[in-house]
Formats: sequence, C-alpha cells, structure tokens
Amino acid sequence: MGGKHSFPRVSLPRDRVVIITGGNQGIGYHTAKWIAMMGAKVIIACRSDEKATKAIKQMNTEFLEEKKNVTEGVCDLEELNVSFMKLDNASIKSVMTFVEEFKASGLKLHTLICNAGIGVHKQEYTEDGNEFLFQVNYLSHFLLTAHLLPIMKTSGPDCRVILVSSIAHRMTSFQYDEIQGKQFTENTFDGLTFYNRSKLYQIMQMFSMNRRLVDSNVTVTSIHPGVVETGLLDTFGGGISGAGLRLLRRMGGSKTAFEGAWTTINAAVDPKLAGVRDVYFSDSKPSTVSRQSRNKRDQKKLWSYTMACLKDYISEEIAKDLEGNYTEQT
Ligand SMILES: NC(=O)c1ccc[n+]([C@@H]2O[C@H](COP(=O)([O-])OP(=O)(O)OC[C@H]3O[C@@H](n4cnc5c(N)ncnc54)[C@H](OP(=O)(O)O)[C@@H]3O)[C@@H](O)[C@H]2O)c1
Repeated sequence: MGGKHSFPRVSLPRDRVVIITGGNQGIGYHTAKWIAMMGAKVIIACRSDEKATKAIKQMNTEFLEEKKNVTEGVCDLEELNVSFMKLDNASIKSVMTFVEEFKASGLKLHTLICNAGIGVHKQEYTEDGNEFLFQVNYLSHFLLTAHLLPIMKTSGPDCRVILVSSIAHRMTSFQYDEIQGKQFTENTFDGLTFYNRSKLYQIMQMFSMNRRLVDSNVTVTSIHPGVVETGLLDTFGGGISGAGLRLLRRMGGSKTAFEGAWTTINAAVDPKLAGVRDVYFSDSKPSTVSRQSRNKRDQKKLWSYTMACLKDYISEEIAKDLEGNYTEQT
C-alpha cells in the first residue's frame, strides 16, 4: 500500500498562498507543514484555536530539525509562514465568516486544499439542517470554493483546487433522494454509506467545476491518500469493512500520516501538474474514478441540489462567476 512514490522537493515562491482545511492534524498537518517548508505561505483553516496554535508550534519545531539535518527541499526561512484562520465546516455561518475575513486580508490565493473531514458518523444534522457528513466533507468545501474562486481567478497562472476524496467513493452509488438521509432512523442510518457518498460528491464536484473552469487559470483535481493511520481511520471500526481494515493494519499495509500526505503535496506542488484538471490521484499517479462519479446526469442533479442548499449564501454575482461561460450544451 505504501508504494515508493513521494513528492518533488521544490522551492515555492514566498508569496504563493495556500489554504488547507483541517491542517492541524493527520494528513492535513503534514501537507501544511511540507508546503510551508518549501517556502509558501500556508493558512490552516481549523475549528480549534488551541489545536491550530499547538500544531503551528510543532511544525516550527520539526522545521528547525529538518533544517539542522539539511533535508532536501526545506527552505531557509527563520520561521515557517503558517497562520491559522477559524473554520468550522459544520456551520455555514462559520464558512461565510472565513470567506469575509480572507477577502478582507487582500491576499491572493493560489492553492485551496479541501482536506478537512469526518469519518463514519451517527445520524446527525448541522445547525443548517444538513446531514453532517454531507455538509462537513462536501457542502462547506463547495461553498468555500465558490467564494474563493473569484480571488483565485485573479491570482495569476497555475491555481489549484485539490479535493481530498477517497477510494471509498467507489463503494457507493448516487441516491438523490437519500442525500439528507431523513428517511432513515438512528438504527437504519449507515454512517459508512454516508461517508462514501460524501467522497463521491467531491469527485462529482471536480468534474462539474472543471466544466465551468475550462480555459481558466484554475484547475480542480482530487486525490485518495491511501489507508492512513489517523483518528479518522479509527471511525471505520465496525462491520465487514472494519475487519478488512484491521487485517490491513495488522499486516502493515497502512500509511503513516506523513506518507498519507504525499499524494496531496504532489498534487499541490508538482510543476508538471500545472494546468492538469479532472484527474484523481492515488499514490501520486492518475487513477480511475468510479463510473458512477462520471455520470453527467447525476453530476447535474447534485450541482442543482447543492446550489439550492446554498441559495441564501451564493449571491447572483458569485453564481454568475461560478457558471463562467458554461451552458448545458457545453
Ligand atoms: N485516514 C485515511 O485512511 C483516509 C483515507 C481516505 C481519505 N481520507 C481523507 O483525508 C482527509 C483528512 O483526514 P485524516 O485521515 O487526516 O483525519 P484526521 O486526522 O481526523 O483529520 C481530519 C481533520 O479535519 C478536521 N475537521 C473535522 N471536522 C471539521 C469541521 N467541522 N470543520 C473543520 N475541520 C474539521 C479535523 O479537525 P479537528 O482536529 O478539530 O477534529 C482535522 O484537522 C479527510 O477528508 C478524509 O476523508 C482519509
């Protein structure tokens, strides 16, 4: 599972701005740290001030170690250019506050990494009335992207949106009527299916957004990080899939959080990937998405449903920008 792939150690411009959601732990932590160690300005978008502050301190300690060891690709900054902005994907209000604060900073934005996520979750609804996995893993990232795209479009060449999805997207189907899962009870709601679907929505979003971004400087790609030893993996404990995972872990087939970050880092920094869109990477190589995720009719249904969910938060101006020159015939 680990493979031999890694990521190119490149020098990133000091004014390259990267936002990564959920950068305080797990895969996101190592992604944020390495991109910052290559010289970029990184903003970790996290829900906990305390965890984020601790993570940044830890990143700097590890950075000093790497500098001491003269690790290839590590820049010569005194201190990493990493900062924290508050974001809770379970709250649309929080996403909108994040957007306003980022806009007010006047910064450009070159890379947006939608990494934050929750694993298998009980049936629960956010303050906005959406099923938790749907909102945290997919909908809030969609809203964030919609609002940040106008900035990315004017930030210069080679801007990238990276959706941290999963191979789990292959293990489910699109069921329009079940997006919110309200027909299920606490006992019949299957958190694993809803996780898999949230990852499927991200792949569908990649295709739908790219169709609207053709000829622009912004690309959308997606990735599967592998089976990675993080807190999120622990949520997959039960059932047949849980037994499979336990076996894989016992056999040493899972990745460390750092190894799990490689595919995302590669998608974010590999210069050869400038202009590459619609690709789903696994072990840093293009991989195959499910046939379901490529279904255009379902992509359109998901897009319309998403826009309806967000209608009070996407102005006409943002919606127009998002649509670009896209028409149903495109
Ligand atoms: N681990 C795997 O095997 C695996 C496999 C395939 C895909 N993935 C994907 O990889 C991504 C990262 O997961 P991970 O394995 O690194 O898990 P993790 O260690 O649990 O990290 C998840 C991150 O998401 C953040 N997050 C959770 N809920 C949030 C919310 N409401 N608002 C903002 N941030 C929130 C967490 O913040 P807190 O610290 O505040 O909780 C944390 O920073 C996820 O999208 C996951 O689906 C993981």
